[in-house]
Amino acid sequence: MSSAVARPWWKDVVCYQIYPASFKDSNGDGLGDIPGILSRIDYLKDLGIDVVWISPMFDSPQVDMGYDISDYERVYTPYGLVNDMEDLIYARHQRGIKLILDLVVNHTSDQHAWFKESRSSKDNPRRDWYAEDGTRLPPTNWRSYFSGQAWEYDEQSGEYYLHLFAKEQPDLNWENEETRKAIYHSAMRFWLDKGVDGFRVDVVNIYSKGVEFKDAPIVDPRFYEQPAWCYYANGSRIHEILREMNAEVLNHYDAVTVGELPHTPDPKKVLEYVGASDKQLSMVFQSTLSTSARGASTNQGRSVSRFASDSPAYRTTSAKLLSLMLGSLTGTLFHYQGQEIGMINIPPTWPIDFYRDIESVNFYKTMAAQTQKDPAELEYVMRSLQILGRDNARLPMQWTGGKHAGFTDCETGPWTRVHDLYGEINVERQVREGKGSVLGFWKRMIRLRKEHAELLVHGAYEGFEIEDEKTFVFGKRESGEKRAAVVLNFSGEEQEVELPVYEGPVFQVGNYGDAAEKEKSIEGRIRRLRPWEGRLYLAGC
Ligand code: NOJ
Repeated sequence: MSSAVARPWWKDVVCYQIYPASFKDSNGDGLGDIPGILSRIDYLKDLGIDVVWISPMFDSPQVDMGYDISDYERVYTPYGLVNDMEDLIYARHQRGIKLILDLVVNHTSDQHAWFKESRSSKDNPRRDWYAEDGTRLPPTNWRSYFSGQAWEYDEQSGEYYLHLFAKEQPDLNWENEETRKAIYHSAMRFWLDKGVDGFRVDVVNIYSKGVEFKDAPIVDPRFYEQPAWCYYANGSRIHEILREMNAEVLNHYDAVTVGELPHTPDPKKVLEYVGASDKQLSMVFQSTLSTSARGASTNQGRSVSRFASDSPAYRTTSAKLLSLMLGSLTGTLFHYQGQEIGMINIPPTWPIDFYRDIESVNFYKTMAAQTQKDPAELEYVMRSLQILGRDNARLPMQWTGGKHAGFTDCETGPWTRVHDLYGEINVERQVREGKGSVLGFWKRMIRLRKEHAELLVHGAYEGFEIEDEKTFVFGKRESGEKRAAVVLNFSGEEQEVELPVYEGPVFQVGNYGDAAEKEKSIEGRIRRLRPWEGRLYLAGC
């Protein structure tokens, strides 16, 4: 069998992540919803999207924007009903678009029936479904990702329970077989039977916490609570658990999984999850790059602002630079809503009151208390949030230059503020501008990626000049003569780069419209790139 035949369906796809609260409101309540998503399928199809991933749309008190699920088998009512999801599954499949959901099963909401029963008494049959401990002191010094302690004393049961995220998100006990079976049934088979094609798996490597809880080493002496992921990330039974999940559920549906894999910088460890001979997950998000900063732990700043420049002069060029890079890198391409129009981070002038995310708000409160509201510290906190905070990527999708960016008709406006620059950065305007817009550029890159999939999606990657912090130069090789060279300038100054030694590289696409013309006069392999400039060359194609 040739490798092309053996390839799973999800290798070549372009997947688009939708944040349901902020994508499109269909009923004027200020919050995005499932019918809103349905109304934009053709937009996604036109962009070249093959798979849509919807962030949690399940029933939830929304303490952590749906990552606190109170019923896996119901939809959060303001988003719609299970019927709406069925309509969406049907409509997507009619257009050849697949759908994946978020699988959030490290924890539930404290409002889930399982937790309510579990805490009701020490001899409740579900008492062991969550991670608890009966000592009167917090069992360990573990810190929650959302600031403060990871243990909460529960008056009702007289014991502590573990919550690695908010206290309203108790951690499930994966040691208990009945719990695992219930998860497989309620959170997975329920949706797979309805035709969903797989899951993005939330914090997949922290389920196995062992049974012996120890204090974490003190790395931040200012606080009692300390990060403890060395004890629970990639725990001793995690691979066994994932093999079971495949055998019991996933293998029966040819379902795809993409696991969120924090705290795992070592590629050898990553391979233990995705290696072909012992597959546990189809693929993973390896977040070392995006989480290496103080403050936010699971941050999602907008890529233009985070990795390039969102200044008025360069934000369009920067958004195209990132498109060039992502469109030519090996692997399955994941795209976040609004990236296709180059949406940028929250303006630096917005105060903390405009932020909604529990992670951002708790971080601010903790630092305010810790520093007696020291203005310099708080300014630093705000600067961090403006770069890293998850609110940045949660602002409403900018559809038009009209009221509330065309996201909602709600008189009082959307649930969270629209970006000040929606008049300049929006879909309607970029559709009008056509090819020269960021949206036009993304469409072209996605088309090019699909046309040259053997090279761009599957080709072998080679890095060049890897010590250079301002440029990113890489090549792709397909078996045979086909080659791609990608030269990217990640700085606001001109940079010189050297093209790899390929026979007759031909300029294909660049983020400065005139690059093709300029190329004609250039001899040899040296290229001078302007600020934030990127180019893609193909050879032998
Ligand atoms: C990790 C997710 O990326 C984040 O958005 C969420 O808040 C936590 N898991 C809790 O589920």
